[in-house]
Amino acid sequence: MNILVTGAAGYIGSHTCRYLALHGHQIVAYDNLSRGHRQAVERALPNQPFVCGELHDVSLLRSTMQQYQIAAIVHFAAFALVGESVENPELYQHNNVEGTRCLLEAATKEHVQKFVFSSTTAIYGEPETIPITESCPARPISPYGQTKLDVEQLLEQANTEHGLGFAALRYFNAAGADPVGDIGEDHDPETHLIPIVLQVALGQRKNISVFGDDYATPDGTCVRDYVHVLDLADAHLRALDRIQERQSIQVNLGSGTGHSVMEIIEAARAVTGREIQTVMSARRPGDPPLLIADNQLACAVLGWQPRHSSIEEIMSTAWNWHQSHPRGYSSTNDKVIG
Ligand code: UFG
Repeated sequence: MNILVTGAAGYIGSHTCRYLALHGHQIVAYDNLSRGHRQAVERALPNQPFVCGELHDVSLLRSTMQQYQIAAIVHFAAFALVGESVENPELYQHNNVEGTRCLLEAATKEHVQKFVFSSTTAIYGEPETIPITESCPARPISPYGQTKLDVEQLLEQANTEHGLGFAALRYFNAAGADPVGDIGEDHDPETHLIPIVLQVALGQRKNISVFGDDYATPDGTCVRDYVHVLDLADAHLRALDRIQERQSIQVNLGSGTGHSVMEIIEAARAVTGREIQTVMSARRPGDPPLLIADNQLACAVLGWQPRHSSIEEIMSTAWNWHQSHPRGYSSTNDKVIG
C-alpha cells in the first residue's frame, strides 16, 4: 500500500515509518521539520520520498497524494506538550485541529479511504476507574488532550459523511527506541521522564526532580503505563490491515501494567549501572496520579499484543539510544548504522 505518513520525522512517526516499510509498504514521509529531525526520517526511510510541507497546505497535500497514489494516511504530525498547550491553546488548536481539518479535506478530495490517527490517553483526563477502558468518559483536562479529542470527532464526522475508515490509537506513555540504535527520542525541551532520567545517568543533569510523592499510589509517586514505540508501530501496521471502508476503530494502546516514577528510576539504575540522584519536588499541575490502560479491545480488534513493553526492554533500548547519541540527532560522535 502507498501510505502518506505525516509527522514522519518525529519520535513515534520515524519508528513507524521504518516498521511499515520493513513490512512491504511504500511510504511517503511528510513533515514540516518544525520539531522533527531530518536525520530521523532519512535513517528510518533511506532513499524514500520525503516532502517537507505544512499540514495546512491543502494543495501540496493533494498533489502529493496524486503523485504517489496514496491509499492510506497515518497522521502523527501534532504538537504534544501538555504544559505548552496550557500556555498557548491557540497554537494547539491551529496546528493539531485546523491542520488535521486541512489534511482531511485533501484526503476526502483525493478519495483516500483509510486513516490512522495518533490519539492519546490525555483525552480521558483524570479517569475515575483504573484500568481505563475505551468506554471511560472523555474529559480532557488540558488543551492538548482537547485537541486530540476534537480530531477524533472530525474523524467520526468524515466517517459518517464520506465513509472514511479510521483508527484512532490512544497511546499511553510511548517509550523505548529501535534496538538498531540509530533512531530514538529527541525532544527540545525534553519533558518526559525516561529520557530525563537517562540524561542524569549520562551526567548531563545532576538529578531528577520527582514531581510529587504524596499521591494515593503504592509509593506515593505517579503511576504510568509505558508502551514500547515498536509495539505502537506494530499497532499501526495492524490497523492499516484491518480498517475497512466506513469502519471506525478507537482503541487504547498501553501495556496494561503501571510503573511508578520511583520504579522507573530504579529500572534505570539497574540497566545503566549508574548512580541516579533524585530530588523530591512539588506536584506538576495537571498530572493524574494513575493512568493504566485496559488494552483488551486493541488485542481483540487489532490482534495486537505489547511484545516489547517490559520495563527492562524499554529502558535498555532507550539507554542504547541515549548512550550512543548523548545529544540526540545533533551528536557529533554519531555512528551511522546500516
Ligand atoms: N515526571 C517527574 N519528573 C520529571 C518528568 C516527569 O517526576 O522530570 C513524572 C510526571 O510527573 C509523571 C511521570 O513522570 O508522573 C511521567 O511523565 P511524562 O512527562 O514522561 O509523561 P506524561 O505521563 O506526563 O505524558 C504522557 C504523554 C503525553 C500525554 C500525557 C497525558 O507523553 O503526550 O501522558 O497524561 F498528554
